[in-house]
Amino acid sequence: MFESLKQGYLPRMYFPTRTIDPDKCTRCGRCFHACPTYGYRWEKGSVPVPVGYGGFEQACLNCGNCTAVCPSGAITMTGSFVIPSGRYRTMLEEKMDEPHPLGYGKGPYEEIEDELTDVERVIYRRRSVRLFKDKPVPKELLVRILEAGRFAPSAGNCQPYRFIVLTDQRLIHEFERKAMIALRLLKNFYLAKNGKRSRIKAALFGFMSWFMVNKLDPRPITAMEKADKTNGRIYYNAPAVILILKNRHGISNPDLDTGICTQNMVLTAHSLGLGTCYISLPMEPLSMPLMAGFRKKLGITSPFEAVTSIAIGYPKGKIDRPVKRDTPRVDWM
Ligand SMILES: Cc1cc2nc3c(=O)[nH]c(=O)nc-3n(C[C@H](O)[C@H](O)[C@H](O)COP(=O)(O)O)c2cc1C
Repeated sequence: MFESLKQGYLPRMYFPTRTIDPDKCTRCGRCFHACPTYGYRWEKGSVPVPVGYGGFEQACLNCGNCTAVCPSGAITMTGSFVIPSGRYRTMLEEKMDEPHPLGYGKGPYEEIEDELTDVERVIYRRRSVRLFKDKPVPKELLVRILEAGRFAPSAGNCQPYRFIVLTDQRLIHEFERKAMIALRLLKNFYLAKNGKRSRIKAALFGFMSWFMVNKLDPRPITAMEKADKTNGRIYYNAPAVILILKNRHGISNPDLDTGICTQNMVLTAHSLGLGTCYISLPMEPLSMPLMAGFRKKLGITSPFEAVTSIAIGYPKGKIDRPVKRDTPRVDWM
């Protein structure tokens, strides 16, 4: 228990190693822009440098997006993201690997892709997109995406969702600005000053981690830093955003239904040539008194509440390769 409390704030973390081959690097900065955590330092014309800050030795969640968007395959990642103990302990097998849908020993992925179904290809090629073209998404495509959500399975077919589509950039920016107030406060408080781990914060977060383990994980703090360092652009300048609301009175577990419904939309968007990124960062602020006026503006009233949102747009540049993922434990019985 003591270890758990001690590791509730800036727990011991081991990060993957990101290596950039300067001979291959085109210095385009796509890895810097696509990284959800501000995990690279980059200036125009230079080779990006993997970095950390505020007590994070490296700001890397192991998502592999930098490797997926690099046009020249200059980045390699080795190792896993590991928190070895405490409430935030990662429980993966720590074995990063490419997709092996046909079994190990058959691959690499690019070689077996032709043998896969269209659905499988969409699943393995989809990535979170954080670089969007300045081009609106036609309404017909947004309707098609929403329709895919509508046909998701839900407990007792209760369909406990509602959607809000935002395409007005002023409204999206207002949302970002307001949410950023709470996110910035939390993030600035959380990050270690001058690399020092405060005992008071350790005690406070350690204690709170017992009650709010899902909400105080250290990883999203780095995404808050990214948003703050990029002018509060939580939605990455996406031309469209869909907010997914759940009806709290839905049968059994409406969060699960809502997640399934959103993934239907995300995969459909990808199959239509669009890029998406789940964006949950502003959901907590949106539920706070601070944003009551904005909730009213969007027409969010009880029993509905926002669960997540997706940024949607045309990807800028190609995402060229599937990434590696860690492996969860599987027991066959
Ligand atoms: C529920 C949920 C919430 C997420 N929220 C954010 C977010 O607020 N900002 C962000 O940049 N990415 C967000 N992501 C994207 C994850 O960082 C991403 O899915 C993960 O790193 C794996 O990368 P991939 O989607 O490219 O495979 C979210 C993903 C999920 C599923």
